[in-house]
Amino acid sequence: MNDSANVIVLGGDGFCGWPTSLRLSSEGYNVTIVDNLSRRKIDVELGCRSLTPIETIERRIQVWQEQTGRTINFVNLNIAEDYHQLRDLIVELQPQAMVHFAEQRAAPYSMKSPKHKRYTVDNNINGTHNVLCAIVESGVDVHLVHLGTMGVYGYGTAGMTIPEGYLNVKVDIEGTDHQIEIPYPPHPGSIYHMTKTLDALLFYYYNKNDGVRITDLHQGVVWGTNTEETLMHPTLINRFDYEGDYGTVLNRFLVQAAVGHPLTIYGQGGQTRAFIHIRDTVCCISLAITNPPAKGERVQIFNQATETHRVRDLAALVSQLTDAEVRYYVNPRNEALENELVIRNDKFMRLGLNPIRLSEGLLGEVVDVAAKYRDRCNMEKILPSSRWREDIPFDREGSSAPQQAVLA
Ligand SMILES: NC(=O)c1ccc[n+]([C@@H]2O[C@H](COP(=O)([O-])OP(=O)(O)OC[C@H]3O[C@@H](n4cnc5c(N)ncnc54)[C@H](O)[C@@H]3O)[C@@H](O)[C@H]2O)c1
Repeated sequence: MNDSANVIVLGGDGFCGWPTSLRLSSEGYNVTIVDNLSRRKIDVELGCRSLTPIETIERRIQVWQEQTGRTINFVNLNIAEDYHQLRDLIVELQPQAMVHFAEQRAAPYSMKSPKHKRYTVDNNINGTHNVLCAIVESGVDVHLVHLGTMGVYGYGTAGMTIPEGYLNVKVDIEGTDHQIEIPYPPHPGSIYHMTKTLDALLFYYYNKNDGVRITDLHQGVVWGTNTEETLMHPTLINRFDYEGDYGTVLNRFLVQAAVGHPLTIYGQGGQTRAFIHIRDTVCCISLAITNPPAKGERVQIFNQATETHRVRDLAALVSQLTDAEVRYYVNPRNEALENELVIRNDKFMRLGLNPIRLSEGLLGEVVDVAAKYRDRCNMEKILPSSRWREDIPFDREGSSAPQQAVLA
């Protein structure tokens, strides 16, 4: 048990943060959630809501207490703005670790308009910088565990297995070859992804200059919704995004199948992405907390993904499972039509992660959740309402054959 250790979960009301907070609490950590509830406000802005009926954060933690006898504290503050409150909280709690989920995390939302681009940059960069600056000013030796994305490596074909954060390169120095290790070159494909690559630079600096101990988790696309803990009581249910901006691809397909909407493939569906089930996300965070880098060690980077799939193959799999129709829409994103993606994830495997694969029957569980709450689905919000450039048309009809590229 970890009864004496405080852990702060920044963004602990969100899709990954809530089940992680419950897992860490069940493992004996004293968990404090910090969240400004901005994600719930964005639901109001977009005119949609989680497919699953999520309760207020106060009610959620009250029911957790009733079910387990364990207390989770909640502090409502904006980490991008309320710097002094954040610093004072760190001084007060002296946390062993801080898990940082508190960012605007949808690539499509970040591309919606200049206002959304600026909000995403202001929120994510100021938030991450405030966290690092507050750790240093507090004088507390906190291990920061940040949720980054596989998207920082870019979604072109690298022609190699993507390493975990650092790349071995040979450089010619005055005619002699030298082998050196450098941070993998950043290759963002959206404003959101750009903020994650900038986060990495902030980590590099604060680690080098102030010795902050940091683990950056390059996470794949998360699918699924339930964990052992969220299943303990209906009020503990996790959020489930399905609409065009926040719905992640596999979860979107599963809801589309459950509500009788065609599966929405963008372009030719040739995009290959890395995936992880939400139950593995919470395991990985727990493993990362218990395996911090040593003082003075460089930023530790793990690829937090368990398998890769091409989007059209995922659609075929969901269609086979549910008989859903598959349709191809003009791709609202500016991205490679087809890409290969091969990744390393040895570090978590060595730490004992036993991955949940797509083949393990949990797709059916997600379809059941989606079917149970299908009446809450707003069909108007399924198709994308954000695009990477103004010259990309919004396609409301789709077609039965793959769409040609709009952008070069
Ligand atoms: N969901 C995925 O598939 C996925 C994949 C890769 C990486 N990630 C990363 O994991 C993290 C969490 O993702 P998620 O899906 O849980 O997102 P989410 O939007 O559901 O949760 C983020 C939480 O952070 C809070 N928040 C945002 N800005 C804040 C601020 N300035 N101050 C305080 N609270 C703030 C929001 O209110 C929300 O509760 C993100 O950083 C995201 O980039 C997620």
